[in-house]
Amino acid sequence: MRWFEMSRLRSAMTKGKRVGPEMVGTATPKRKRSTTVVKEEKSTDPSSPRSTFHTFPDPADVERLRSQLLCWYDQEQRELPWRTLAVTESDLNIRTYAVWVSEIMLQQTQVATVINYHNKWMKRWPTVQDLATATLEEVNQMWAGLGYYSRGRRLHEGAQKVVSELKGQMPRTVDSLLKQLPGVGRYTAAAVGSIALGQVTGAVDGNLIRVLCRLRAVGADSTSSAVTEALWSLANTLVDPERPGDFNQAMMELGARVCTPKGPLCSRCPVQSHCHSYHKVHVKQEKNSRKLLGKQDRKPDSLPDIEDCANSGTCPLCPSEPWDDALGVQNFPRKPAKKPPRAERTLTCVVIRHGEGGEDEFLLTQRPNKGLLAGLWEFPNLLLEEKSSDLKQRRALCAQISGKLGTHLTENMFQYVGEVVHIFSHIHQTYVVHSVCLKDADTHTHTENARWLSRSALQEAAVSTGVKKIVKLYDSVDGQKEQNSKDGKRQRHTGTKNDKKPNSSRKAKVSSATSGGRQLSLSSFLNKVKDEP
Ligand code: ADE
Repeated sequence: MRWFEMSRLRSAMTKGKRVGPEMVGTATPKRKRSTTVVKEEKSTDPSSPRSTFHTFPDPADVERLRSQLLCWYDQEQRELPWRTLAVTESDLNIRTYAVWVSEIMLQQTQVATVINYHNKWMKRWPTVQDLATATLEEVNQMWAGLGYYSRGRRLHEGAQKVVSELKGQMPRTVDSLLKQLPGVGRYTAAAVGSIALGQVTGAVDGNLIRVLCRLRAVGADSTSSAVTEALWSLANTLVDPERPGDFNQAMMELGARVCTPKGPLCSRCPVQSHCHSYHKVHVKQEKNSRKLLGKQDRKPDSLPDIEDCANSGTCPLCPSEPWDDALGVQNFPRKPAKKPPRAERTLTCVVIRHGEGGEDEFLLTQRPNKGLLAGLWEFPNLLLEEKSSDLKQRRALCAQISGKLGTHLTENMFQYVGEVVHIFSHIHQTYVVHSVCLKDADTHTHTENARWLSRSALQEAAVSTGVKKIVKLYDSVDGQKEQNSKDGKRQRHTGTKNDKKPNSSRKAKVSSATSGGRQLSLSSFLNKVKDEP
């Protein structure tokens, strides 16, 4: 038996045991359920009766769409670890936990990246009890590279809550998932509830927003509450009561692989016949070719197009901007313009000492336990202020480092390395990187939140992608310098700006990163470094 066939078997086995909070209780005959759900299609504004254009008023259409979509999914779905666990794991607690972990990881990260992280996570902490006994540091370490670190912290908090307050039992309904677990919102609760627990509810994530907006030509701002509520209502109408988890994942899969943001593959879409946007594109194309051929349109201009909403002037779901022929189905969904990320520059220093075994060690400091990248380790740094001079700020960072080491460094020991850009969702961060290489192996850290880490320890540590990028830059510049010194050339930095004045910094105690040939490149460790958050 193939694993997705097990999924259908499990649906059949759990049938009758499910409770669907948003919908009717246990599974009822299909046709009857469709009728019940269609009743949920209420207008958010009772004073303006909405046309049925943006809904699925015919239960037979709903049935057809479910069957076409699930048939496609059974053939086309990717084998993903959490999907396999959702159908093969018989322990409800473990199943719910595994799907919860996957959904939190998938919140802002692509499926391809999550696969490895999920496998490793489940191997290390196979049950919610195992996760509860881990330290936050271990969780951060495991999360390193996934970005949005508060997600890992919330999983950890949630596991501890399940163990200490819920007798180790994962919540069993969408409602309790939402109420009991930190970091679990409406979508995640619905996804975990439907996939792991067979709860009959739609689940609207970014993929579903796109698919549903296109299917029913919803062109108003997709972040507005009218559109949000309409999409949840649509999702609840469409979800298959027999296979709610598969249905929701099939919609996600469709959004990820066929109904993509750019270049959608409409010719491969299993639900093309239900798609108002697709229909509209084709009617338009036909009209245009008729026009080109000089043929008369049979419909007078005064009549609305049947492919449009009858209330389009007042409908809260219709676009306020005109249809753009060049975009085709990509006219949907519409989002408000994004605020550009704010630009920040951060002065960063890679401080290196030769450790006792002759191995290089790096000075890392820990971020505060709250806020961006909470609790992660990073190179000493200072947010640059435009008003303050470069020299003053280098001095300030120098003082910070000196404090951590109980020694006295001066800013002329800094060597400029280069700049690294890292984009967070709301910050365009530029790290202005310098390095200092200390000859004294006895430079011990004097504060709790500072540590010397060898290269191998750094590989394992809970550090952000920004730190990995900085190491990569440092290594590449170091490698370049080594090559140049071997060639007998003058040492040269790759950087710009401050690079005009690093001469004095190449003296005395400062050997920068050049005395090497001794260390493995960290590049292997950075193989997976991408522009993740
Ligand atoms: N995105 C969010 N949840 C998902 C899932 N279960 N499968 C694929 N992509 C997803």
